[in-house]
Amino acid sequence: MKLSKELYPEAEKYREWVNNQLTIGKELLYLTQADVRNIQITHEEILDLTEKALVAYSKKNVDMPAKIGIHPLHETFYHAMPAYAPEAFAAGIKWGSCYPGNSRKYGYPQAEGLIIFNDHLSGIPIAILDCIYVTEIRTAAVTYASIKKLANPYTKTFGMIGCGVEGRQHVKNIEQVLPKLKEIYVYDIFEEAVDHLIKDLQPGLKAKIIKAASLEELVRKSEVIASATVITEQPEPKIKDEWIEGGKTILLCDCHSLYEDKTIKRADKYLVDSIEQHELLKGYGYYPYGLPDIYAETGEVVGESKKGRENNAELIVCNNVGMAVEDMYVVRSLFDKALTNGVGRKLPL
Ligand SMILES: NC(=O)c1ccc[n+]([C@@H]2O[C@H](COP(=O)([O-])OP(=O)(O)OC[C@H]3O[C@@H](n4cnc5c(N)ncnc54)[C@H](O)[C@@H]3O)[C@@H](O)[C@H]2O)c1
Repeated sequence: MKLSKELYPEAEKYREWVNNQLTIGKELLYLTQADVRNIQITHEEILDLTEKALVAYSKKNVDMPAKIGIHPLHETFYHAMPAYAPEAFAAGIKWGSCYPGNSRKYGYPQAEGLIIFNDHLSGIPIAILDCIYVTEIRTAAVTYASIKKLANPYTKTFGMIGCGVEGRQHVKNIEQVLPKLKEIYVYDIFEEAVDHLIKDLQPGLKAKIIKAASLEELVRKSEVIASATVITEQPEPKIKDEWIEGGKTILLCDCHSLYEDKTIKRADKYLVDSIEQHELLKGYGYYPYGLPDIYAETGEVVGESKKGRENNAELIVCNNVGMAVEDMYVVRSLFDKALTNGVGRKLPL
């Protein structure tokens, strides 16, 4: 997908604005993780940008190949995630890694990396930024966008499996999309992660956060369930099929790792963020039993070209592994705000 002729004048105007704050070709903006976290962006904006990205992707209005990867150690990977979103004047690449043992071994986050953001008219890099916060907020926003279309809006119970960086971000603003929630069940194999989540997030929420006694309790009691644990090279099911009734909405940030193949395959609707991406992951061996029939890409239901939930009995599984285009929409907004407010450091190129 290329920039349309109609958008050129506006794109040139935007470039001129950037060039007034930062000499393109001579300087770039460097944003540390703290810088990125300090940029004021609302939850509503993040959700709106993420929804736009999902829809643009599924309408094929972006240029985004499936992310390729390297896999140095057991269950680790780096993904190269380039994307161009012409309508957002946003081009760049995220080089993100996932090392599940990082926090225990070195005290580092599981997911890390950098983003290079480019001037799409000249190709010149105009920013380098830490990607941790961008990944955090856009991943939860993808789950929220999916919930808006796939879950019952009167949902009273939500379950979060994995209380790390992504799990916390998911719980933090969940009431934004499930305003009738009464209970949030949380579970992690690392008990301290659960305790920290409850202590930190309960004051900001109306619904009661409950430490699930077991994974089974969480799964049985929650109408909507999200998981953000570890993407295992092959599924290592921990959730029994018999615990799952119709009507539930299951959101996966960690592919099929926790679920039995029969659960995934009996879903009334199975969605993925990018068919091309999940086909590539299948080639890497992540779906040894194959992928189920795909009902739609997430962006199709977000953009309403396909129906979301149609009744209260449907079992719906939505598998969002993350897309560079989501990063680029969010980064464009953060970059503009950083330039406007003088956040970050200009470095010579
Ligand atoms: N879909 C996306 O766009 C996207 C983006 C970022 C991260 N991720 C994935 O989300 C997952 C979580 O990332 P993170 O940054 O929050 O990592 P994290 O290490 O901060 O948190 C993961 C948590 O899951 C817990 N956990 C591990 N195995 C578990 C199990 N079997 N049951 C319950 N809890 C378990 C860990 O103890 C940890 O607290 C990873 O798989 C990562 O690859 C996906």
